[in-house]
Amino acid sequence: MRLTFITRCCHGTGNDLDVLGVELIAADDAGAPRRLAVSEGNQMRLLLIGAPGAGKGTQAERLAERFGITHISSGDLLRQHVKDRTSIGRMVTSYLDHGDLVPDGVVMDMLRKPVVAAAEAGGYVLDGFPRTVEQARASFPTAHALGVEVQAAVHLDVARADLKRRLLARRRGSEDTEAVIERRLQVYLDKTVPLLEYYADREWMFTVDGAQPPDAVYADIVACLEGWWTSLRGPGQASRASGR
Ligand code: AP5
Ligand code: MG
Repeated sequence: MRLTFITRCCHGTGNDLDVLGVELIAADDAGAPRRLAVSEGNQMRLLLIGAPGAGKGTQAERLAERFGITHISSGDLLRQHVKDRTSIGRMVTSYLDHGDLVPDGVVMDMLRKPVVAAAEAGGYVLDGFPRTVEQARASFPTAHALGVEVQAAVHLDVARADLKRRLLARRRGSEDTEAVIERRLQVYLDKTVPLLEYYADREWMFTVDGAQPPDAVYADIVACLEGWWTSLRGPGQASRASGR
């Protein structure tokens, strides 16, 4: 395994180096180099994965505030399109109403601009995308080419009974009826659980107990991110992850 510092010369002398980022490289089974994790500059690009009602939106808002990054929710953006009666909104209404995933191309086209803009502005916490292996595979090459790919992912783990209770209590319109909740939970099992398995061996993937009270979930996520950031950049470089 190899730790590579991405550097630039500074102070005009050519002797001092600014560390712009860090890459962790390992050999795969065939001996080819494989990038395990990357942290570039002072950006933070996070992904929250979890079932409907797991608390993605709740935690993403807090993380965005703490780290000064942009919260991007694919579901919120789609709901706004429906509300504004845009062409995307008309196209996706029935998917949302039935608890089904909207077509990959629609979500990816919708997210490209906000993700790039957020990365340029310091980073993002992406909530709700990717939520299938196909979306992860399809979006990575573009995100990588643009230098905006995700750096760390957090899975909020919550039992089905708790999820259902939370969503029934929230009642967010047609999406939170009992039948549609059941459908959304089934789509999560069928489509998103394989994504968790796909990411399972990545060093930048963390699982947090999302059944705890919101403050405890938040504290666990921040602790994971601090540990990850410090392991990549060294104890003196942990300021971004600690929110200072
Ligand atoms: P999306 O908006 O992403 O919905 P979701 O995944 O079903 O999740 P929710 O937003 O309902 O829950 P959450 O995890 O954000 O939890 P929250 O913080 O709100 O997607 C909606 C639809 O858009 C999809 O069904 C699909 O049609 C489409 N879509 C979106 N992305 C797509 C994609 N990538 N591809 C294709 N289609 C896509 O919390 C829930 C409730 O629990 C709240 O009341 C909250 O106060 C409470 N709560 C939160 N945390 C806790 C806690 N720790 N303890 C107790 N209560 C809590
Ligand atoms: Mg949400």
